[in-house]
Amino acid sequence: MNVVIIGASSGIGREVAHVFSQEGHNVICSSRDEKELEWLVSDLKIRYDCSACGVPVDVTNNSSIKTFIEKIYENFTIIDCVIVTTGTMPGNEMPYYDEHGLINTTMTNYVGIALILNEMSRRMANNNSGIIICLSSVAGDRGRQSNFIYGASKSALNTYLQGLRMKLYKHNVRVITVLPGYVDTPMSYGTVKQRYAVSPRYVARKIYKLTKSNRNIVYIPPIWWLIMRIIRFIPEAIFKRLSSVF
Ligand SMILES: NC(=O)c1ccc[n+]([C@@H]2O[C@H](COP(=O)([O-])OP(=O)(O)OC[C@H]3O[C@@H](n4cnc5c(N)ncnc54)[C@H](OP(=O)(O)O)[C@@H]3O)[C@@H](O)[C@H]2O)c1
Repeated sequence: MNVVIIGASSGIGREVAHVFSQEGHNVICSSRDEKELEWLVSDLKIRYDCSACGVPVDVTNNSSIKTFIEKIYENFTIIDCVIVTTGTMPGNEMPYYDEHGLINTTMTNYVGIALILNEMSRRMANNNSGIIICLSSVAGDRGRQSNFIYGASKSALNTYLQGLRMKLYKHNVRVITVLPGYVDTPMSYGTVKQRYAVSPRYVARKIYKLTKSNRNIVYIPPIWWLIMRIIRFIPEAIFKRLSSVF
């Protein structure tokens, strides 16, 4: 398969690039950091003797997105699978009313991803085949007093993916939403106790298996499905008083 990985320079995306290369797929790695992409691509080629390349993109910039799409389809007529692991999480020290934080988080975690997927999914639909796997977060399942700017961007992304899934169903394009809990990556560094976190390689292997499944919304690890069901079940009148817990 020709697989585009957006957010490949770090954390889960980097591990996804390793797993798919190891399994013999062509990977097209993207993120903003061109140097990091160059290192990743040469590492993948040496380790797995695979075909890999890097195409930079900044998902907060519409002209960068347009150039990115053009470059990809110049080199590959068909993209079989796109995996989106791009994301940003403002630190808890950023107040929720910080303008830049709100705009950057929403652009990175929702608007930019939707712009890319709108165009790529349109081409997949024309081709009557394709797989879209997009990482969201359990933080999008319920607004909490901590980091709800991040949670709101993931919530918007979840709704977008739900709609896209319905829209593309009859065109044989699968849309899978992945909701990780805690993963040990640079994004979560210093915010999560390691014993509660899974490794990015574990998540990447699960993502690989999803390319062969018909699942729609997947919690990783699965225990988060139950945790979030319980959290969502708490009535709002009680939930708003629990700021010391959540
Ligand atoms: N780690 C966790 O505990 C956790 C939990 C739940 C959900 N998630 C979600 O899982 C996904 C992957 O997270 P991670 O932990 O692997 O994070 P990470 O290590 O910080 O990686 C984030 C990736 O996104 C890219 N990126 C950020 N801003 C970008 C932009 N404007 N344009 C293009 N690429 C951009 C980064 O590359 P550059 O900086 O080079 O652009 C990097 O490759 C995210 O969507 C995150 O919200 C993570």
